Amino acid sequence: MNWKLAARAAKMNPSVLREILKVTERPGIISLAGGLPSPKTFPIQAFADACAEVLHNDGQAALQYAASEGYAPLRQAVADMLQWNVDPSQVLITTGSQQGLDLVAKVLIDPGSKVLVETPTYLGALQAFGPMEPNPVGVASDDEGVVVEDLVAKAKDARFVYLLPNFQNPTGRTMTEARRAAVSAAAAAADLPIVEDNPYGELWFDEAPPLPLAARNPEGVIYLGSFSKVLAPGLRLGFLVAPKSIYPKLLQAKQAVDLHTPIFTQRMVSAVMKDGFLERHVPTIRALYKRQRDAMIAALQREMKGLDVKFNAPKGGMFLWARLPEGIDTVTLLPKAVERNVAFVPGAPFYAGQGDPRTLRLSFVTASVEEIDTAIAALAQTLREELALVGDKKLAAAQI
Ligand SMILES: Cc1ncc(COP(=O)(O)O)c(C=O)c1O
Repeated sequence: MNWKLAARAAKMNPSVLREILKVTERPGIISLAGGLPSPKTFPIQAFADACAEVLHNDGQAALQYAASEGYAPLRQAVADMLQWNVDPSQVLITTGSQQGLDLVAKVLIDPGSKVLVETPTYLGALQAFGPMEPNPVGVASDDEGVVVEDLVAKAKDARFVYLLPNFQNPTGRTMTEARRAAVSAAAAAADLPIVEDNPYGELWFDEAPPLPLAARNPEGVIYLGSFSKVLAPGLRLGFLVAPKSIYPKLLQAKQAVDLHTPIFTQRMVSAVMKDGFLERHVPTIRALYKRQRDAMIAALQREMKGLDVKFNAPKGGMFLWARLPEGIDTVTLLPKAVERNVAFVPGAPFYAGQGDPRTLRLSFVTASVEEIDTAIAALAQTLREELALVGDKKLAAAQI
């Protein structure tokens, strides 16, 4: 059959990253590449108990079609969980926050629409927006988040700016209080809607991050949240909070996509969450991830000594961002690292425009502390060899 594809199908290319990461699937590889939460944190017994309870008490309703907006007690629980005044009628339960990104794209993007993103940004968002054919424009970003002056300069005619203020994927950076206040004020003044994505906000190590942007100007923000990182990603359960002015459109978009998020899962999570379960469970994830972050930073300090490698110390989340010395391209480095049984994610695909080839993302949550030590040592060795190679090439070029 000669399928005649829709023009938008051309925008649904396999993720560059997935292709790159195929080499990392070899057995024996220590992967610092994936964005997978540690399976050690999945509360399996609590799910088993909640499953039995839901089937026993509400089996018929749990297996029936349900409301597109989501299960009312779960919407209420989400509203209660958030730090600003949210009415449950503003909460839409989604099939992962990834679906929230898809719904936002469907409702807000026309072909050619300008969409502002951080530099770099979450690759999955670029993928979700892609089929709607936007013109993604990167806003300059520093250690504190997006640079306000550049945001203002690019705001005209943009449909929205997509921001990840907490423990960003991929950089692990957090937007400071001062920057949040300035971004919020600037966006409101420019009439620029914000899409705030916050799947990692609860995974803080020493202190909770500043208030979300949505708390500052609820009318100007669509806020996305997720249960993937605080319970388990296989649930595919997330939510969005939207102003009343845009909520019905997002709901209609969702109805067309999947009618509703699985009600069995929603009821089960609602049962798991009752009696303050998350308040007991999430601190155990924070403690584990903090230990692992410390181990990775110690390993980097030890192994990369003298190699001119810059890396940050994220205050939460799952990822650390590093920049290697001049002349190194992390896409070229990856297969060489894989030869030494360690994998990472090259940073360049996370940029809306030209990526920085020297950057890479490391996850500190899935590998054990011992594996982190081994992996960082192997990565440093790979880098040393690559630097020698780059140096030789430079020397050869100079001699020609
Ligand atoms: C920044 C960001 N947004 C959204 C998602 C999607 O999460 P979910 O599992 O809720 O669909 C991820 C997943 O890693 C992410 O890193």
